[in-house]
Amino acid sequence: MKTIRVGLVGAGFAARFHYESMTQVHGVGVKVVGVTSLREESRRAFAARHGLRAFAGIREMLPHIDVLDIVSPPAAHEEGMLLAAKSGVHIICEKPLTGYFGPKGCGDEYRGDRDPKGPMLEKVTSALARLARVIRKSGVTFGYAENFIYAPAIQKEREIIAKTGAQVLRILGEESHNGSGSAFYGIWRYQGGGSLMGKICHPLSAALYLKRVEGIAHNGKPIRPKSVTCRCEQITRLPSYQDKGFIRTTYHDTEDHGWMHVTFEDGTVADVISGEIVLGGIYNYVEVFANNHRTRCNLSPVAMLDTYNPKAEQYKDIYTIEKTSTKEGWAAVSPDENITLGYIGEMQDFFTCIAQKRTPESELELASDTISAIYAAYLSDERKGADTAIPLV
Ligand SMILES: NC(=O)c1ccc[n+]([C@@H]2O[C@H](COP(=O)([O-])OP(=O)(O)OC[C@H]3O[C@@H](n4cnc5c(N)ncnc54)[C@H](O)[C@@H]3O)[C@@H](O)[C@H]2O)c1
Repeated sequence: MKTIRVGLVGAGFAARFHYESMTQVHGVGVKVVGVTSLREESRRAFAARHGLRAFAGIREMLPHIDVLDIVSPPAAHEEGMLLAAKSGVHIICEKPLTGYFGPKGCGDEYRGDRDPKGPMLEKVTSALARLARVIRKSGVTFGYAENFIYAPAIQKEREIIAKTGAQVLRILGEESHNGSGSAFYGIWRYQGGGSLMGKICHPLSAALYLKRVEGIAHNGKPIRPKSVTCRCEQITRLPSYQDKGFIRTTYHDTEDHGWMHVTFEDGTVADVISGEIVLGGIYNYVEVFANNHRTRCNLSPVAMLDTYNPKAEQYKDIYTIEKTSTKEGWAAVSPDENITLGYIGEMQDFFTCIAQKRTPESELELASDTISAIYAAYLSDERKGADTAIPLV
């Protein structure tokens, strides 16, 4: 079988673990051949490190690849997806799928948190419909790089729900840690929002996915989200906030904490939380309360290995867990996050599906429902938590 050639858009944090995970795919030939990014210096450095060709832009790279892997900030996702679909190139896109990023050409003066959310939701709904139309018409394979779906813990829970015919009554999930290392984070015009777009999207997609699994197991039809209640906060900007220097505070116009209560078509519910204000390393879980079982999926920490280090210096070359701010004292280490967080699993599924012309487990409708729910949530927050309908595409 022909080797599948991949081009990356973005040369930052996510590009690294996408690249590493693609090298682990088996049974299908995969080769990353190119990279493009905003800054010439960063794409050249990434290309040199991995023996790739650096391209000035997506258009220049498309004729040389079979798959465009989009690992740039959310504001750049849509353009890449549309260009790839129109050229018949398969697509892998990082979360969140897309969003609203302010008026064209806006700068620092733009404040997404103060922009009315009703029109924002309408614009996002049109963008999602346009994307779905173009991608479906093109016939290319689309993989939504939502790693929670492929975390072994979530896949085990999928099996339990599907094989036992469970009804999921309530889901509780969270992704929290101390901010992000990306310079684009915390700025609405690049991210399309704050904690909801950057973090809640993970447990939210996992909850939407598990309800889809339940519906498909019962009658072949996914159970989709219907309405949402949400509150967002800017805790590090409260006049009462006391900064001790441990928590990132550089959020331009986005929330640093959020909570969403989602009601599904069948009346069951999910509560998902995210925060930039959580110390102690990345904190991710999804707990499922069903009519026949209860499961807690621990994604980070995974409780596989605890280590005590009396002096930070000793572990300077040892990776422990994402977003820990110190290596001194006890640490709950993730021996291989590419496995436990689902990064290798997602690449394996995407490339197998591309080779076999199948739809990946994490696909377009799930990606799109996640964004519809998030922007309906922003509108709910503007209305002080009123239950708000999710306009599904
Ligand atoms: N699944 C996960 O666990 C996870 C973790 C981190 C980030 N992400 C996602 O990955 C994406 C990238 O985040 P990151 O943390 O790697 O950011 P980053 O800032 O580390 O890297 C972003 C890269 O994109 C490039 N870029 C910026 N604008 C661009 C444009 N218009 N066109 C082409 N390239 C552009 C930058 O030059 C940089 O190389 C985001 O969608 C983010 O949500 C996912």
